[in-house]
Amino acid sequence: MSYAKVLHQPKEIKELGINNVLPIAHNIEIVNYVLPDQQQGIDFQRRSELGQFMTPSQIAHFMASLFDRSRFEDIRLLDPGAGLGALSTAFLDACFLGDKVRRAEVVAYEIDPFLRGRLEKHLKKHCDTAVNPNSAFLFHVLEKDFVEEAVNLILSKNFKKFTHAILNPPYKKINSQSRHRQLLHSIGIETVNLYTAFLALTIHLVEDGGEIVAIIPRSFCSGSYYRSFREWLLKNASIKQIHLFNARDKAFKEDGVLQENVIMHLIKGGVQEDVLLSFSNDDSFSDCYSYHCSFEHILKNNDDEFFIRIPSESDLSGLVDSTGINNSLTEIGVEVSTGPVVDFRLKDFLCAQPESDAVPLLYPCHFERNNIYWPKDNIKKPNAIKVTPETEKWLWPNGFYVVVRRVSSKEEKRRVVASVVNPNFFNSSKIGFENHLNVFHFGKNELDKDLAYGLAAFLNSLQVDRAFRSFNGHTQVNATDLRSLKYPNREILVEIGKWVQNYPHLTQESIDMKIESLN
Ligand SMILES: C[S@@+](CC[C@H](N)C(=O)[O-])C[C@H]1O[C@@H](n2cnc3c(N)ncnc32)[C@H](O)[C@@H]1O
Repeated sequence: MSYAKVLHQPKEIKELGINNVLPIAHNIEIVNYVLPDQQQGIDFQRRSELGQFMTPSQIAHFMASLFDRSRFEDIRLLDPGAGLGALSTAFLDACFLGDKVRRAEVVAYEIDPFLRGRLEKHLKKHCDTAVNPNSAFLFHVLEKDFVEEAVNLILSKNFKKFTHAILNPPYKKINSQSRHRQLLHSIGIETVNLYTAFLALTIHLVEDGGEIVAIIPRSFCSGSYYRSFREWLLKNASIKQIHLFNARDKAFKEDGVLQENVIMHLIKGGVQEDVLLSFSNDDSFSDCYSYHCSFEHILKNNDDEFFIRIPSESDLSGLVDSTGINNSLTEIGVEVSTGPVVDFRLKDFLCAQPESDAVPLLYPCHFERNNIYWPKDNIKKPNAIKVTPETEKWLWPNGFYVVVRRVSSKEEKRRVVASVVNPNFFNSSKIGFENHLNVFHFGKNELDKDLAYGLAAFLNSLQVDRAFRSFNGHTQVNATDLRSLKYPNREILVEIGKWVQNYPHLTQESIDMKIESLN
């Protein structure tokens, strides 16, 4: 459907109660198109298939307020996966506040016919009531798969580029054999989720210097799956602002979405300058604060993984990047891998309790900081694994290792929880590490004892916790993440290891102070 109209004055004006540290559009009417009853009208099955999590109105207006208002003149806005129109309508509110706008054209893609009807109604109603004279407005609601359509446009090279884009794309894994994956591959985009695909395609469709504001999960900022997307993104756009919601369950509270979300404000092909980092707990933005951050703290020099970090103010005070903590794991002669035993593949060889022809099989539940609890009664996991020709290659020599659980959450006190595996605890020549653990080792062999203790103390420190939170916003602690951290040199780790063994009752605070003194 297409619609065109000459616009007139807003009827009703309300104050948007957001902390004005940020460039917020004031005096706008907030129409909430995502009322709980409307959300309920959406079929549950379709909702999860199509990633239909609608943007709450306050967030939509916050996003719209990020665009540079001095550039609102002749607008061509893209809203891919427009849902009920929360973002386009918020954008229109923001842009028609000024009197510079001469013409605004909105192109909204929505694949779900059930939503499209309501989307058209909302856009039309919104423009009939809340706009400014002397400007023309038109919109097109396109009943197309955005991925298909965008790839076709890009390949045809014959399309009018957009000046602005605002999006909350669907979140859904893209199967490696799927048509979407092939289409994306045909234009050089390699990514594993629809949300990053939508963002990359949007960047393609926007003109140089055009602005893009997107709300997306933070998961693309780290991890190896999104590496090539990050590299592509940083080559094709510059980051102007990143807004992080501190609480994972608050931004989309009606939908119960347990993701850490970020709002990215990007400029297509722009020169990368300092980045404005802003934070709020939830969509009320009542506790919003912000600061500028030089880009070198967001993307580290020589970072082959292109992690996008969001450092806190205390990180920026220099604790993490200190000269005393600047060695890679390779430089200290240590490797980290995920535990090699994948239990469901070796089901026939697992033992609930130790047996004569079995060796310990260690899961995260066997560790609590520096204590090992093995074997454990009343756990759902096995305690041991039989030594057979099928299992032997997955078992390592018993020895000193450091393990870090692979799943932690932002709400936990520390994201990285490390424990030392002490071989004297097990009467066995071999040992099995289950896949939910990351294991620090030396060529699949044990570490030097003092090094193991020093490494575990360092990994449990406040400094590592801060560094880790600056780039990892999900619950996984991957081996890649641990590899990307910087470590003190080997001698210092050995010294810390001796120190913590000599004083077994050291508090975490005194360990943190010791690590801080390395700066
Ligand atoms: C996360 S919702 C966001 C909706 C809206 N932009 C908002 O912010 O409230 C994503 C929307 O994309 C739509 N969608 C999913 N896959 C799509 C596709 N391939 N092409 C176009 N729209 C799609 C869904 O139906 C859903 O309405």
